[in-house]
Amino acid sequence: IVEARLQPAEYRNLLQKSITVLRKRACSVGKMKKKSTVCKRIMEKLGQVDMDHTERQVVCISQDSFYRELTPSEKLKAEKGQFNFDHPDAFDNDRILRTLRDILTGVKCEIPAYDYRSNSILKNQITTIYPADVVLFEGILVFYFPEIRELFHMKLFVDTDSDTRLARRVPRDIKERGRDLDYVLNQYMNFVKPAFEEFCLPTKKFADVIIPRGADNTVAIDLIVQHIRDFLSNRGRVTMEAESPISRAEGGF
Ligand code: C5P
Ligand code: MG
Repeated sequence: IVEARLQPAEYRNLLQKSITVLRKRACSVGKMKKKSTVCKRIMEKLGQVDMDHTERQVVCISQDSFYRELTPSEKLKAEKGQFNFDHPDAFDNDRILRTLRDILTGVKCEIPAYDYRSNSILKNQITTIYPADVVLFEGILVFYFPEIRELFHMKLFVDTDSDTRLARRVPRDIKERGRDLDYVLNQYMNFVKPAFEEFCLPTKKFADVIIPRGADNTVAIDLIVQHIRDFLSNRGRVTMEAESPISRAEGGF
């Protein structure tokens, strides 16, 4: 979750900001909760879901929207389940950084749409993200690169055991992503599990809060929601000089 705070009265390019990151590998076997469910719950509890998207104080962006376009030979590999989508280089990390910087400076930004069936970015399906006070940024490797990690003001790691992750993944990939069982299991054994251990798990140490059991952990979700509520109600009282999160963010580059 990335959280960006804007100066309330003036137009939104003069801003105070603060950033929070939720990074989660969350699910529960029984109800098949996904990572995005944690963000959805937070949005619901903050009353943001039914709002017009231009009016939202809190918005949610997924790292998956930033998977990079593959070369023709990578595409062939991906079709056979031989491309590593869990490696940090699978993402357009420059675009992630640019987008987060835009968010921090209160600039409206455009998020691509990604299609897991064709392993490609969907042309002409851009989502516009309007300046918001809190931006939740969720994904498997959002804490991996220091330049990106340093932008977040609060980092959450939603922890789930590997059996549960696999049990969640199999039906999801078959139903929603057009894969068959062989593909899912091979991809999991060859790429997902080793990459989780090599790239994702070591980023747990950067988290401010570790949340077991994902969206089922209503106590943790309520605490996060309360933290965001406090932030939203306090933001008007913060002066441009105080905190100066933008200089902190820029210092990271
Ligand atoms: O929703 P979730 O965070 O699980 O999505 C990330 C997962 O999607 C990664 O573990 C990656 O293996 C998978 N993926 C895929 N095919 C793609 C892009 C991502 O299987 N084209
Ligand atoms: Mg997801």
